[in-house]
Amino acid sequence: LDREHLQLALRSLPSQKKVITALDTPNADKAVEIAASLSALGGFVKVGMELFTRAGPPVVETLLNQGNEVFLDLKYMDIPNTVAGAVRSACSLGVSMITLHAGGGLRMLEAAAEAAAAAPIGANGRRPALLGVTVLTSFTLEELDAVQPGGGAMNERIARLAGVVLDSGCDGIVCSAADLPALRSKFGDKLLTVTPGIRPVGSDKGDQRRTTTPAEAVQAGADYLVIGRPITQASDPAAVLATISKEIEEA
Ligand code: C5P
Repeated sequence: LDREHLQLALRSLPSQKKVITALDTPNADKAVEIAASLSALGGFVKVGMELFTRAGPPVVETLLNQGNEVFLDLKYMDIPNTVAGAVRSACSLGVSMITLHAGGGLRMLEAAAEAAAAAPIGANGRRPALLGVTVLTSFTLEELDAVQPGGGAMNERIARLAGVVLDSGCDGIVCSAADLPALRSKFGDKLLTVTPGIRPVGSDKGDQRRTTTPAEAVQAGADYLVIGRPITQASDPAAVLATISKEIEEA
């Protein structure tokens, strides 16, 4: 399944799947319970390092059996051979998206893309989309300069990383929706765009720094929005997701 066909397939999923709920909890039962409460409205959930480290592939399998699409967000970064192996393992789980750090470099991303291309197609008729994480949405430029000096402005850094992702054959990027307008003028829709750091008006930013509202993210052209705490920590997660979905449809 080549990049263009995979992007088309993912962009054609029903619009109610546009919001990916991040199930950031170490508790598999809690994760499955939240996913069940959202299944009528959502159906796309993200399993990250907190949940996967504790609960592993069985929780992914349960979430898939519930009828969800699963985004496995483990942000791989290692030598090319090791990452290629991790990608092969991830492909065997039947997930829809996986992440790697774009900063792992061209050869690492190419090895990942080759591994995914060679993996058997899943039960959903697709292989997972490989998404390169550009700059985490929790970073300010000042914080980034402290650990990676001399990399230029935030938009230059993100465009450079997105360019490496595109060249590598991977399918898309994870970035702040605030970064999208500049990227779209450069890359058009050649990369699938998944944006965390979403905060509905009035909700707590937590550790996120470069945030947008759901409507702003959609207007900036985000294909998928990743939203965690504003949904999962709410007293009525389904109600919050319903409100966000309405905001998106009207954006
Ligand atoms: O709770 P919140 O909405 O901030 O959750 C955002 C989710 O997106 C978290 O699971 C976090 O790991 C993930 N993420 C991010 N920034 C990135 C990539 C992923 O916040 N650049």
